[in-house]
Amino acid sequence: MKRIGLFLLLLLFVIATGAIAVPANKTLSFDKAKMGAVEFSGKIHKEAGFKCKDCHNAEMFSKMKQGTVEIKMKKIYAGEQCGKCHNGTVAFAAKKSCKRCHVKK
Ligand code: HEC
Ligand code: HEC
Ligand code: HEC
Repeated sequence: MKRIGLFLLLLLFVIATGAIAVPANKTLSFDKAKMGAVEFSGKIHKEAGFKCKDCHNAEMFSKMKQGTVEIKMKKIYAGEQCGKCHNGTVAFAAKKSCKRCHVKK
């Protein structure tokens, strides 16, 4: 009985960490802008030291699902969404470096 409990716990752990490992290694592509597609790297942002809730909170990207928030430059420039950090203080300023995000193929 004890063994089964341990096994289930282990299984749960594998499932849980498996799900968590996805975004950190994943790159999301936002390709609607004519300026070029934006590749959002989970790895770069994780290595910069952020926790999930630094972005996945009620004010920013509340759902862990791509496409639930419409990302607009107006909001970014106003310090919302990606602009919460890409403001020249926490990370490079969006206004000055379009091409660090938008890459034309
Ligand atoms: C620097 C900001 C940031 C951090 C930190 C971050 N995420 Fe995300 N994540 C996003 C954005 C932006 C999206 C896309 C949201 C949208 O399009 O509405 C996203 C999407 C996701 C998705 C959906 C991917 C898909 O294919 O639809 C998952 C799952 C996810 N994040 C999990 C996590 C987990 C778990 C962590 C912590 C280990 C994390 N994220 C940390 C910004 C972040
Ligand atoms: C919680 C803060 C935070 C948020 C939110 C955030 N970023 Fe970042 N981002 C960083 C930091 C820090 C770096 C590392 C580069 C630096 O220090 O300027 C980075 C790096 C990047 C890079 C790599 C650029 C390069 O030249 O290497 C891209 C592209 C990028 N972010 C896009 C985005 C996009 C798109 C969003 C919104 C969906 C976003 N980021 C949201 C903090 C953030
Ligand atoms: C921190 C990353 C980042 C930087 C820097 C950035 N953008 Fe964006 N931009 C995005 C993301 C993410 C989207 C949403 C794309 C999508 O939904 O497919 C977007 C969308 C757009 C759009 C279409 C939607 C809208 O808001 O009009 C335009 C046009 C645009 N960007 C122009 C620019 C210009 C011009 C610059 C430089 C002055 C710039 N971007 C810098 C991330 C960035």
